[in-house]
Amino acid sequence: MVTRISDALLLSLAMAMSGNQAVKLVGIYGSPRQGGNSDTLLDAALKGAEQAGADVHRITVRDLQFVPCQGCQYCSRHGECRIKDDMGVIYEALDDSDVVLLGSPIYFTSLPAQAKAMIDRCQPYWARKYVLKQGPPETDRIGGFVCCCGTQDDRFLACTEQIVKTWYFIMGVKYRGSMFVPGLDAPGDAAKHPTAAKDAFIYGKQLARN
Ligand SMILES: Cc1cc2nc3c(=O)[nH]c(=O)nc-3n(C[C@H](O)[C@H](O)[C@H](O)COP(=O)(O)O)c2cc1C
Repeated sequence: MVTRISDALLLSLAMAMSGNQAVKLVGIYGSPRQGGNSDTLLDAALKGAEQAGADVHRITVRDLQFVPCQGCQYCSRHGECRIKDDMGVIYEALDDSDVVLLGSPIYFTSLPAQAKAMIDRCQPYWARKYVLKQGPPETDRIGGFVCCCGTQDDRFLACTEQIVKTWYFIMGVKYRGSMFVPGLDAPGDAAKHPTAAKDAFIYGKQLARN
């Protein structure tokens, strides 16, 4: 019988045996479009991270059921969200990760509503930091952003990236820059692009090693 063990698995085993824990990376799919361009880029980046030995956890925001932030201020008093829904899965994954990697397209110079709703529901991190003065603790956690947009105009990135940078800052995650591909619009454009998937693979690999 032939048993095939992937490079990533061998690397994880070697790290575990040497006492080094594999880096825990959460990859968050932020687009509402299944199999779209940002999915393709994030898939490639996460494969790169796995090749670097990371323990990768994938979360697909469009598959989760959660409501937007209601601005009720409960988190400013209690340090956590009053609403119990699928955001719990995301909080848990964020809190358990060394590396956070969001993949998303640009929608109207911003993020799709689903991804933005996830970020708004991270208000408890803001409340703990600024109202309750409870952190986040100093950590070496880092974050990245795999992003695409339909036009060739790369000015769209700045506004969207500012949202992502602020989200990371509030959570005590150090932003390590984006991997951005403009000019991807129709489904399949990312797969047809001459370098996008390869570049995303390298980006994910480097992020996991950082
Ligand atoms: C509602 C909506 C808003 C969009 N807004 C922008 C925009 O502001 N700038 C841009 O260049 N592309 C914009 N696009 C194009 C998407 O960024 C592009 O189609 C992207 O490839 C979608 O990624 P996905 O396949 O991962 O969903 C928009 C698309 C939609 C559906």
